[in-house]
Amino acid sequence: MMNQLHWNKKKHSYTKKLTSLLFVLIFAFGVIFTNVPVKAASTTTDAEASNTASFSTDVIYQIVTDRFFDGDRSNNPSGEIFDQSNMQKYHGGDWAGITQKLNEGYFTGLGVSALWISSPVENITTIDPSNNCASYHGYWAKDFFRTNPYFGSLNDFQTMIQTAHSLGIKIVIDFAPNHTSTAEYGNMTFPEDGALYRDGSYLGGFTNDPQGLFNHESWTDFSTYEDGIYHSMYGLADLNHQNATVDDYMKDAIQMWLDLGIDGIRVDAVKHMSFGWQKNWLSSVYSHKPVFVFGEWFVGGVSADSDMNKFANDSGMSLLDFRFANAVRNALGEGTATMEDLYNVVVETGSDFEEVNDQVTFIDNHDMSRFMTLASNNSRSLENAYVVLLTSRGVPTIYYGSEQYATGTTDPYNRGDMPSFNTNSTAYKVISYLSPLRKTNPALAYGTTQERWMNDDILIYERQFGNNVVVTAVNRNQSRSTSISGLNTNLPQGTYNDVLNGTLGGGSITVSRTGAVNTFTLGAGQSAVWQYTATSSSPLIGNVDPMMGIAGDTITITGRGFGSSAGSVKFGTNAATVLSWTDSLIKVAVPSIAAGKYPIKVTSAAGTSSNTYGGFEVLSGTQISARLKVNNASTDWGSSVYVVGNVYELGNWDPANAIGPMFNSTSTIGMYPTWFYDVNLPAGQTIQYKFIKKDANGNVIWESGSNHTITTPSSGTASATTDWQN
Ligand code: NOJ
Ligand code: NOJ
Ligand code: CA
Repeated sequence: MMNQLHWNKKKHSYTKKLTSLLFVLIFAFGVIFTNVPVKAASTTTDAEASNTASFSTDVIYQIVTDRFFDGDRSNNPSGEIFDQSNMQKYHGGDWAGITQKLNEGYFTGLGVSALWISSPVENITTIDPSNNCASYHGYWAKDFFRTNPYFGSLNDFQTMIQTAHSLGIKIVIDFAPNHTSTAEYGNMTFPEDGALYRDGSYLGGFTNDPQGLFNHESWTDFSTYEDGIYHSMYGLADLNHQNATVDDYMKDAIQMWLDLGIDGIRVDAVKHMSFGWQKNWLSSVYSHKPVFVFGEWFVGGVSADSDMNKFANDSGMSLLDFRFANAVRNALGEGTATMEDLYNVVVETGSDFEEVNDQVTFIDNHDMSRFMTLASNNSRSLENAYVVLLTSRGVPTIYYGSEQYATGTTDPYNRGDMPSFNTNSTAYKVISYLSPLRKTNPALAYGTTQERWMNDDILIYERQFGNNVVVTAVNRNQSRSTSISGLNTNLPQGTYNDVLNGTLGGGSITVSRTGAVNTFTLGAGQSAVWQYTATSSSPLIGNVDPMMGIAGDTITITGRGFGSSAGSVKFGTNAATVLSWTDSLIKVAVPSIAAGKYPIKVTSAAGTSSNTYGGFEVLSGTQISARLKVNNASTDWGSSVYVVGNVYELGNWDPANAIGPMFNSTSTIGMYPTWFYDVNLPAGQTIQYKFIKKDANGNVIWESGSNHTITTPSSGTASATTDWQN
């Protein structure tokens, strides 16, 4: 409260000054502010819209396939795993149902342009005896090369993809390579033993594992990063990705789905798999087909997590932005934080994530309570949260059914059947007004974020890219209206109508030549969005995707003003071969240059240079995953062991870029004073390396003696164990 008063005082004195200044101006020059019509700039972005590597202009709609729509009763399971009145059993939803809703226009009406569906792979067909639950959610895989027959056949899958694509809608699959199904709970026996099959052939099970397909540690207590990686999550048979069969399996499996036409991948539980294995797997994905990949790194609050930041910035994939979700839920759902707190999280994540616009945002999902329930069934809170979600940085995701005011607490109650397909509800309309803006106004897709006016209840922020501007105002207080004075914007002079057409009570604003907005009232619980689009005549990079690759991979550069004829693109000082060129999207091949991070710059045919877009990571070549281990490396309290070597992936001998801290607390792999780490390395090379000890201040102790060497295979995995050399 104190804070808010302080704020308002400041605003008032500022406004007074500004108002008198305007008077002087008007008086002196006799300027009369007339309404300047908003210029309708051409923002045709077909090239961007069909770009699978970037989702900057998309709104994602997340579907729990089993709970969406039953389009084909003939594929429903029989027996105890099917019961539409039991939230833990299959309900019959399938790809035919999604196809039907695509054809009926439910998604195009909503304006979403990507569907994230449940993992499509074959799951166990029995009840998990430890929790009496069926695999309706798709997270209990048994064969990643076959479809879940209860969702449909390969034909049904392809029909869904083709139907979606014909409507300009992308398909993202959930993919869970961390584990198969539950196989561990006290002395219980599990009918399917967590077994893994490859297109019908049995490869092994959890208790029958001569090949070492699985890690055999107890349940994780989630206490450390290491513990979460090598221990099972709730008894889910934890796959050993260092096993060459498993590594090869996951690379081939995802290629099969890529070849079936998917446009993106949501990777389950990325916090629970090694960084090195995932980077090696992801590099294989990008070389096969550049698609947008985002991982689930679950966090329960709004605080930073250094392992998560590192993953978001260096793994090569985006993350689901739980911090943003929790911040919106706190401020607009439960009311446990202010709008200022929400904006603080936007600022903090804006510096923690190198590419904040590429993280995937949401307000609820299948692992947390529905927003309506969180907001005590207050529908305006939900509608306002959608306004924030759809105009903020990041790729927004709508969780199926929440736009129909579905309620539900925790899993499985937050995964109910789609309550209705009403296209006239307020929430449906809010989403349908705002979703298309991500395509027509690049300020949403690529822009920066700036706070323009705020107090505990109100947040007004501006997104901007070039001269494109979107201003969003949200008043979460449903019993108090506020007069907004002293608001400034980069919107050019003119009058702007609410993009929501007053659906949430907003009206128009008038902006002066200096960017001052006329004083207006933001009513109780109201939201409004105002926008301006401009044509760019000089090149401006908005995004580069993917942000890592090997020589020859295709990379997309999106933005505005590249021009219609091809200019040039440079990675640092190195020219890249241009594969295609439009005003908003350029495709280039990663040049054959030394591995490292490079800034990207576009120069138009007319010779104008763009901004530099930082940090594209060129890898040394095709990647493999290797487990490096060192025995007898005793350390002083506070020091850890790292590995460093003569390739970029091992830091090019620079201790500051060494890989680690390594792990030392997994009984089946290595316990202190043994240290180990799974790293991604270039394939088919003899690599030199050493272990170092580093303390918290960065002081380094090198191993003595000659370098260790490892010769990596051209495919598969590698491992090497040595003793610390004193
Ligand atoms: C996170 C998923 O979102 C959750 O629903 C699932 O149960 C676990 N990962 C395990 O796959
Ligand atoms: C320092 C290490 O001590 C040595 O073993 C290694 O060969 C060099 N760095 C490489 O420059
Ligand atoms: Ca069905």
